[in-house]
Amino acid sequence: MNNTGKIGIFDSGIGGVTVLKEILKVMPNEDYLYLSDSKNNPYGDKNSSEIISICESNVKYLMNNDCKIIVVACNTASAIAIESLRKEFSNIKFIGIEPAYKMVHDYDPEGETLIMATKGTIESEKFNVLYNRYNNHKTYVMPCTGLADIIEEGDNEKIKQYLNKSLEEYKGKVKNVVLGCTHYPLIKKEISDVLEDVNFYEGSSMVAKYLKQVLNGENLLNNIGTSKIEFIDTSKSKEKEKRFYEILNMSKNEF
Ligand code: DGL
Repeated sequence: MNNTGKIGIFDSGIGGVTVLKEILKVMPNEDYLYLSDSKNNPYGDKNSSEIISICESNVKYLMNNDCKIIVVACNTASAIAIESLRKEFSNIKFIGIEPAYKMVHDYDPEGETLIMATKGTIESEKFNVLYNRYNNHKTYVMPCTGLADIIEEGDNEKIKQYLNKSLEEYKGKVKNVVLGCTHYPLIKKEISDVLEDVNFYEGSSMVAKYLKQVLNGENLLNNIGTSKIEFIDTSKSKEKEKRFYEILNMSKNEF
């Protein structure tokens, strides 16, 4: 693969756009192919073998479409499938995301913290290793079953109801919130409306920096790319395409 290949990115829908947004800040000259696998949303409630098999199909698609590296812009898929993907597709590099709990350890090690993530992420071995390594014994872990689905649907009323019901018990008790699913940065405002004054921690800027470092190390950086951003959704939803460009604050015609 040469440096003019695309950066492939996938998630179970539009959540991973929050990662792409950070990547674009540090690498505006690359070409991108974003695969929104909304047909299989949510990943978070599926078992490991289903998630691995879905991720394998996504990787095959991205590799067949000229991608030089793959960003798994989904905490659930990274936690459950990335090691299998690395073994199976050893001729391409993978960059994964994980809940930014280490950041809490670095910036506010004693702070009361809430980690929000999918059930799949929270039950994974990878997450448990991370959690036990940085556990400050002032941390609540919340499996947000169903939350990524309603963010994907874009139903604001349902999101508000979900958060009012599930976050009320943490109000006043936590200072830090780890957004351990790439869909959750899209609802920061709604989370703040319930928890009020909290600091958010998310892994996307770390992913962006690390991706650039890896591309540089592999001589795969493209400084003269056309900055083309392609979007493909597995349920062929025009609505998803519209939201994709809205989240990026771009119009499709800009490419
Ligand atoms: N956006 C994904 C994550 O970061 C998962 C959402 C889902 O359950 O599909 O975990």
